[in-house]
Amino acid sequence: MKAAIAVLAGDGIGPEVTAESRRCLEAVGRLFGHEFELTAWPFGGAAIDAHANPLPDATLSACRAADAVLMGAIGGPKWSAPDAPLRPETGLLRLRKELGVYANLRPVKVHPALVDASTLKPEVVQDVDLIFVRELTGGIYFGDKHRDAHSARDVCVYEVGEIERVVRVAARLAQARRGRLTSIDKANVLETSRLWREVTQRLMAREFPGVHLEHMLVDAAAMHLIHRPRDFDVLVTENMFGDILTDEASMLAGSLGLLPSASLGEGRRGVYEPIHGSAPDIAGRHVANPYGAILSAALLLRHSLGLETEAATLERAVSDAFAAGALTTDLAPQGQRALSTTEAGDAVLSRLRPPT
Ligand code: IPM
Ligand code: MG
Repeated sequence: MKAAIAVLAGDGIGPEVTAESRRCLEAVGRLFGHEFELTAWPFGGAAIDAHANPLPDATLSACRAADAVLMGAIGGPKWSAPDAPLRPETGLLRLRKELGVYANLRPVKVHPALVDASTLKPEVVQDVDLIFVRELTGGIYFGDKHRDAHSARDVCVYEVGEIERVVRVAARLAQARRGRLTSIDKANVLETSRLWREVTQRLMAREFPGVHLEHMLVDAAAMHLIHRPRDFDVLVTENMFGDILTDEASMLAGSLGLLPSASLGEGRRGVYEPIHGSAPDIAGRHVANPYGAILSAALLLRHSLGLETEAATLERAVSDAFAAGALTTDLAPQGQRALSTTEAGDAVLSRLRPPT
């Protein structure tokens, strides 16, 4: 098949990890005889510097025209002063909104070879296999904002339709997995959460009676995630809770650098990015973990291009690399030489094989 992929590498370690996810996509394309056309576009802080706009029109148009968007990470101290006129993050939020990618899938799967990489006990994290569905284009991220000398305000709004569509995505995933959905909210305090709970309850009873639904308060969820993570299958939650809980959940897998994400809307086009940030402290040192970015490329193959075998082939190569101990500094045990970003990419590429 032919596919156009817009590449938005961004800032900090973004370009370093994206170089590896790009190489992997190209290699998968060659292996299976696909024509992937990858084109790079300015985005984030780099686009503020070059075009005074974190999401230049040409970048947005290219993303709209593409079959999928492969992204790195954005942001950094250079653009984060309290009075900064333009912020890289605004470009990211606008891109999500403009493309209508309201469902952000963040899978967390603990690889057997990485059980000891977690700060949690092996018996707690082994066999964890869960997936977050984070609402991505609503809530407090997108409500009215106000700031004056004495006060500040961020408004959180959710509409019924916004809740229904993201819960449907999560429920379908649960149907195809172990049939359990945990909806996370703060219904004991927030009006938006009470609406979230009511809408979820009603929709699940009507459309997904076979999926087991439980509601959980976000504070309790933060605790249970590290207490008994194996009990979770699919978790669905609003934008900000999902942002916070998925950084926490990454520690089950062993490193923030491991987690991929897929942001999906109504069509097939999606945005694929590791959940980590631009890590300015390690940028340029070639030590960043590219696995979250590479696994995001696998999600791209699966969800936007419908190439399940290709996606599974790339995921298997990553998994084989872990099993062989191909680990970056964030994962390598004391005394073991850690791989550079490129070496980790090589470790995956050398294990890419057609399915038997
Ligand atoms: C993420 C990031 C972003 C978010 C930032 C960079 C705006 O933390 O994708 O999780 O909060 O959504
Ligand atoms: Mg985040």
